[in-house]
Amino acid sequence: DETKAGVKGLMDSGLLKIPNIFVRPSEELAQESLLTYKNTTQIQVPVIDLSDIQINDDKRKQIVEQVRIASETWGFFQVVNHGIPLTVVDGMIDGVRKFNDQDVVEKKKYYSRDIKRRVRFNSSYDLFTSTTASWKDTLTISFSGPAHPTHPEELPPPCRELAMEYSKHVEILGNSMLGLLSEALGLKTDHLENMECSEGHRLHCNYYPACPEPQLAIGITNHSDAGFLTILLQNQIVTGLQVLHQGQWVDIQPIPGALVINIGDLLQLVSNGKFRSNEHRATTSHIGPRISVACFLSGPLNGDMNKIYGPIEELISEENPRVYRNVLLSEYVAKFLSTSMDKYRALDYYK
Ligand code: SIN
Ligand code: FE2
Repeated sequence: DETKAGVKGLMDSGLLKIPNIFVRPSEELAQESLLTYKNTTQIQVPVIDLSDIQINDDKRKQIVEQVRIASETWGFFQVVNHGIPLTVVDGMIDGVRKFNDQDVVEKKKYYSRDIKRRVRFNSSYDLFTSTTASWKDTLTISFSGPAHPTHPEELPPPCRELAMEYSKHVEILGNSMLGLLSEALGLKTDHLENMECSEGHRLHCNYYPACPEPQLAIGITNHSDAGFLTILLQNQIVTGLQVLHQGQWVDIQPIPGALVINIGDLLQLVSNGKFRSNEHRATTSHIGPRISVACFLSGPLNGDMNKIYGPIEELISEENPRVYRNVLLSEYVAKFLSTSMDKYRALDYYK
């Protein structure tokens, strides 16, 4: 029952030491002290200014080129001037804070581990497969596309309008990102959208309470994202998100109003390995809470998920032979959810 009160519930009870399930294995901690836990390099993921994507062909071509390079090398980049108003972005963060600030009784109403539930609240979906529990509480809201609309009354009152509004905007941005990514793959602008990559989207609203022993815990363990594309909002001062780049954990510094975009496993698969779905994680801190909202574009996740995805024909040639098999979406999702995300990558089963 304690898990139902969330990590925040534990903290509010006045903990000074973290419970054992949150302590990372000693081998991992020993290795960690060899690697740099905190970012010491000056390198940063690319920041791409989207303000001119509509304006003229040359400008758009330059942006597409930046997206291509970032997607091939980092699998991560930040975007500024992306068109989502700051009030909407700040409103979303505020909504998540308000939801989590409620009495435990209110939050428990949404507690569920049933992935078919459209709105659910729990700490981590990998609680039973990973070695360490994540130092976070997550509210998940699925928007499964026009055929199965999500109605406002399904959402918790403190973040109802704010999340509906954010979802509307992030869907538009998602489609324009898919347009840029399609072009970056040398395809027609609507190629990825026509593959139904953005048929629905899911918001993971993450709340990472301040942690009394941040060196021992992890906010979210290293993983790659399952879907096609993730748009992540972390419009706050507290850092936490890190991407593994050339063997080093690199902090993704929050830039006011910016959004982080990252390639997911399914886009790596359909791009035949051209774009990288890179490993990342979130650390914890004495300072908190840190709030982030990840929007996943993971294909048509409603109904029986019987869509098949495989490397795009146009991207396969003699020089670029097929790297991955075709996968049934439902099978892929089941594989991802049953795989301990810090140990294996679901994608590797489809080589
Ligand atoms: C995630 O990778 O799903 C969340 C990362 C973050 O909180 O920044
Ligand atoms: Fe992620």
